[in-house]
Amino acid sequence: MTDVVVRQMSFSTDRSLLLLTVDWRAAARPGQFAMLKVGDWPVVPRPFSICAQDREAGTTSFLIRRRGLLWDQLLRLQPGATVQIKGPLGNGFPELPAPLLVGGGCGVAPLLFVAATRPVAGFYAGVASAAEQAFLAPLLPAGTVVTVKPQFVTDAFLASRSAGPVFACGPSSMLRVLANRYRGGPIWVSLEERMACGEGLCKGCPVRRREGSVALVCSDGPVFPEGEVSWTWQD
Ligand SMILES: Cc1cc2nc3c(=O)[nH]c(=O)nc-3n(C[C@H](O)[C@H](O)[C@H](O)COP(=O)(O)OP(=O)(O)OC[C@H]3O[C@@H](n4cnc5c(N)ncnc54)[C@H](O)[C@@H]3O)c2cc1C
Ligand code: FES
Repeated sequence: MTDVVVRQMSFSTDRSLLLLTVDWRAAARPGQFAMLKVGDWPVVPRPFSICAQDREAGTTSFLIRRRGLLWDQLLRLQPGATVQIKGPLGNGFPELPAPLLVGGGCGVAPLLFVAATRPVAGFYAGVASAAEQAFLAPLLPAGTVVTVKPQFVTDAFLASRSAGPVFACGPSSMLRVLANRYRGGPIWVSLEERMACGEGLCKGCPVRRREGSVALVCSDGPVFPEGEVSWTWQD
């Protein structure tokens, strides 16, 4: 892990989302992630998708939802403090032009990075509250369709009758709905699993492929063609 300096922290008004910007000049592809840790607790770092990079300023940003043990540590930080980071890790999304993007919750994070690197055919973002919607508005490209809980982002996306390749990231329930109901083109999903090493060493993040073999979300993914994933293996 490398020490990097916190440049900026901004919170949604309900303090459920944090945009954390650090001085880290890493050549990352959209869909890749980094392992983050603050001091010595929690002992195991946590994975976060790379949300944005500013090459000129030499910074990388992460969109972090209030959840888990790391959150309390993050709240104690101020700009100028250091966090530990390892990455960029994982495979990232394919280099397809003009994908459709469907994200739920902090699953929006890697899709923001996709949208910063190429034109997209559509962006559908599901958020938990009006406060989150207001916080994300300046980060989302013009024309993004935003749904607020209890509306489902998948309903808005499927109702649009869009067709074309889809990049999706969010809770597995959301990814399953897309896998079951979207017939307009291929889908790539970015999966979430508990991780410890983030680089294929601990074997702690397995997912079953449909053909029976086991893949590691950190090093074989986190992005998989939807058809490769066995959605029932953890049921
Ligand atoms: C590829 C990827 C990208 C992600 N991107 C984002 C993002 O952009 N934004 C975002 O907000 N979240 C993202 N997440 C999710 C994020 O890493 C976790 O939700 C967050 O760190 C909270 O951790 P937790 O749920 O493990 O909660 P914790 O409270 O930290 O853990 C809950 C319980 O799980 C146990 N646990 C946690 N990790 C492990 C482990 N490795 N081994 C064993 N036990 C463990 C803990 O001990 C505890 O008992 C991403 C996850 C992945 C895999
Ligand atoms: S997190 Fe260690 S193998 Fe995936």
